Amino acid sequence: MSNKILITGGAGFIGSNFVHLLLAERPEWQLVCLDSLTYAGNLANLAECQGQKQFQFVKGNICDAELVDKLISDDVEVVVNFAAESHVDRSILGCQEFIRTNIEGTQVLMDAARKHEVGKFVQVSTDEVYGSLGEEGAFSEQTPLAPNSPYSASKAAADMLARAYYKTYGFGVITTRCSNNYGPYQFPEKLIPLFVTNLLAGKKVPVYGDGRNVRDWIHVKDHCRAILAAMEKGRAGELYNIGSDNEKTNLEITHLLLKLLGKDESMLEYVEDRPGHDRRYAIDATKAKNELEWRPQVDFAEGMAQTVQWYIDNQSWWEEIKTGQYLKYHEQQYGKTL
Ligand code: NAD
Ligand code: TYD
Repeated sequence: MSNKILITGGAGFIGSNFVHLLLAERPEWQLVCLDSLTYAGNLANLAECQGQKQFQFVKGNICDAELVDKLISDDVEVVVNFAAESHVDRSILGCQEFIRTNIEGTQVLMDAARKHEVGKFVQVSTDEVYGSLGEEGAFSEQTPLAPNSPYSASKAAADMLARAYYKTYGFGVITTRCSNNYGPYQFPEKLIPLFVTNLLAGKKVPVYGDGRNVRDWIHVKDHCRAILAAMEKGRAGELYNIGSDNEKTNLEITHLLLKLLGKDESMLEYVEDRPGHDRRYAIDATKAKNELEWRPQVDFAEGMAQTVQWYIDNQSWWEEIKTGQYLKYHEQQYGKTL
């Protein structure tokens, strides 16, 4: 047993939170983090891990079959795939990179994992593959896939490929589908960190459409614990929905953030709606709770207050992103523009 785990996309929001969780709670694991450091990857998210014996960072692309083969052949036992293009709005502007990373990258990883007989592969997916709900009900693992954005279509394609690899080859893939995450290290293009950092910088917050779209929010730590549980207790070929029953309209989130930051309604600005904007997401996580013995632990009000405080306390982290300064750091590390 090498106890070696390959974590792809570990310099992003959820991947870096997962790395922190494993370093703290699974000291027996060796972590190899593969990340190409796109605009969304940030070495600052892993600053505390650099230099730790258990942790190795490799800058590289999951579509690079040679590199992926080399890394996995070196005694990797488990792969957890976070690497993705993850922002719906960017996928609407153009989705080539989404197709390449989210679909082709998953295929490259699964082929290498299969070749080297990796027993477990966790594919980190999203509830967005199910499409949009009406007023009632929640997504279960039986809900048919109906993605509406190029992003969710690319994730659904990867999920289908994972399913096919299990059915065809008996490949040990476990797929998790989680709802919207919030917490530390989220790139400030997504709703919550964008709004918090705008408000801290004295800027207005752009609410799409009527602001009544509903998302089901979960703290990133609860998501990471669920992925760990899926990795340790999940069954090959199974899907697990992950969520923590916090359905909120975007207006509710906006009002909460205004209140937490002592700002008034004048900072809220309605803007044009997102094309194909999914109306409502809600997750039924009964299967994960029953089979993985997992429960969300973070109370929503407390989690949001702590998250806002994290962005207040880590102003230089998001300012370096907003000014592009973090890319200069990557350039210094790797000697070229990324
Ligand atoms: P993110 O955009 O913050 O991070 C993605 C990471 O992947 C970055 O570090 C980036 O550099 C890296 N990456 C991108 N393309 C790569 C490539 N070709 N090779 C290697 N690395 C590459 O995303 P996130 O919010 O942390 O999401 C992680 C995963 O979780 C994604 O698969 C996403 O679909 C899924 N997910 C996200 C949410 C959410 O609310 N953020 C919810 C459910 C599921
Ligand atoms: P986002 O954080 O992009 O996540 P997703 O689209 O994957 O759910 O958006 C969350 C919700 O917030 C979604 O309904 C779109 C809305 N939204 C805004 O109203 N304004 C914004 O500037 C952004 C980024 C999102």
